[in-house]
Amino acid sequence: MVTTTESIIKSGRLNYSKYGLGTNPFAGSVPRNDVEFVVPRGEEIHRALWTLRAGILGTSTHAVVVGGYGNGKTHLLKYLKHLVSEEASESDQQNLAIYVHSPGENFRQLYSTVMSSLGHHFVQEIVWRYLGFICLRHEDLLQLKDNHKQALRKDGRNLKKIVEKGDLLLSNIVAKAKDELLQKIRLLDYATAILHLVFDEYSFLAWKWLTAEDMPYDQRKELGLSMSINNDERALRAFLSLQALLKEIGYGLLVLLIDEFEVIISLPERNRQKVLNEIRHLIDSLPSNLCIFLACAPEAWRIILEHYHAFLERFTHTVFLTPLNLVQTEQLIIAYLNGARRKADHKSLDPFSSEAIELIHKMSAGNVRATLKLCQIAVDLGLMHNLQELRGEVFQSSLRRLLEPPQMGSDS
Ligand SMILES: Nc1ncnc2c1ncn2[C@@H]1O[C@H](COP(=O)(O)OP(=O)(O)OP(=O)(O)O)[C@@H](O)[C@H]1O
Ligand SMILES: [Mg+2]
Repeated sequence: MVTTTESIIKSGRLNYSKYGLGTNPFAGSVPRNDVEFVVPRGEEIHRALWTLRAGILGTSTHAVVVGGYGNGKTHLLKYLKHLVSEEASESDQQNLAIYVHSPGENFRQLYSTVMSSLGHHFVQEIVWRYLGFICLRHEDLLQLKDNHKQALRKDGRNLKKIVEKGDLLLSNIVAKAKDELLQKIRLLDYATAILHLVFDEYSFLAWKWLTAEDMPYDQRKELGLSMSINNDERALRAFLSLQALLKEIGYGLLVLLIDEFEVIISLPERNRQKVLNEIRHLIDSLPSNLCIFLACAPEAWRIILEHYHAFLERFTHTVFLTPLNLVQTEQLIIAYLNGARRKADHKSLDPFSSEAIELIHKMSAGNVRATLKLCQIAVDLGLMHNLQELRGEVFQSSLRRLLEPPQMGSDS
C-alpha cells in the first residue's frame, strides 16, 4: 500500500520504526547549536584538532577552514566549541571558545558580536568571580571570615550571596578590584564599565557600553566613562582587556571561531585591509593562549591568499573540507542512522541499499548538506512506498523526480 501525502498530513507522521528509527535522522539542514559529533572525513578534522591542541599546550596557533557551501564549515566550528566546553568541564584548565557567525564589517563589529555571543549574564559572572578572587587576595584588608573564605575558594561567584546578605560591602571590593585591573588592561574605561556590571542599577547601561554601542555623553557620564568603544583600535584594546580579565580568573586558552569570513571580500578595499590588520594585531598581541579559526569559502580564501599573504602567514593550518567520496558518504549516513536508531548498530546501512547510496552520492556530488537532504527525502519516500529497503525503479525515479526543477513554459 502506498501512503499518500494526504494521509501523512492527516496522521501527522510517518512510522519510522519500520526502519528501527525513532525519527527521520536527516531532517534539518543546518547544524544545531550544540554540535556533539562530527563524522570523521580524511585528515581534515585531525588538522583542526592539532591546532586546538597546540593552543591548549600554550602556543597561539591558528587555522583557516576552507570549504564550499554546505560542506561542513559551521558544523566543524560548532563542534570545536563543544569540545572546548566539554574539556573545560572535565579538567582543571579552563578554556573558553567563542563562536561568531560573521566577522562583520569592521573590527568593532567583530568585537561587539564576540561580547553578544558571550552574553550579559556570562560576563557578569566573570566579574563576580574576579571580585571573589580579589577578596581572597586581600583577605586581611577586607577582614574575611573563615566561612566566606571557604565559600569564595569554592566559587568566586558566591560573593554575590555574601554581599546580598550584607556581610561585605561591594563598593569597597570594587574599588580595590579597579586598582588592580587598571594595571592589567589596555583600555582604562574598560575597568570602570565592566565592574559596573555587578551593580543592578548600572548593569544594563554598562553592558551597552561594553558591546560597543555608541553612548551619548550623559549616559557615559553616569558611569564615569570618557569615551565609547567607537573605533577599531579601541575595540582591539577592549578585546585584549577582556582576555586579560579572563586570564586573571584562571582561563587559559581563548578560542575564537569566526564563521563566514568570506564577507570580508565584499567590503571596500580599505575596510577589508583594516579588518585584516586588526586581526593581525590581535594575533601578534597574544603569542600564547589564543586560537583563531576562520571559516571561509574557497573563492574568498583564494583572494586573501593572493593579496594578503602576510595575514594568512599567521595561520599554521589550512583545513580543506572537500566533497565527500563514496566511502565517506556511507560513513556519514551510518553515523546519522545510528544517532536515531532505537538500537545502535554501528555498521548497518539499513534501510539504505548500496544502490541508493551510489545514487545519492552522484546526485549530491559529495556535498554534505545535499547528501543529508537527499537522505531525508529518501527515507520518507521509502516509507511512503512501503519499501523494506531503499532500492528499485520506483524509488530511483521518485527521488530523481522530486529534485528535478519544474518544467517552465510548456503550456501546450
Ligand atoms: N562532518 C560532519 N558530520 C556530521 N554532519 C555534518 C558534517 N559536516 C556537515 N554536517 C552537516 O551538514 C549540513 C551542512 O553543514 P554546514 O552548515 O556546517 O556547512 P557550511 O560549510 O557551513 O555551509 P555554508 O557555507 O552554506 O554556511 C549541516 O546540517 C551539518 O550539521
Ligand atoms: Mg555555514
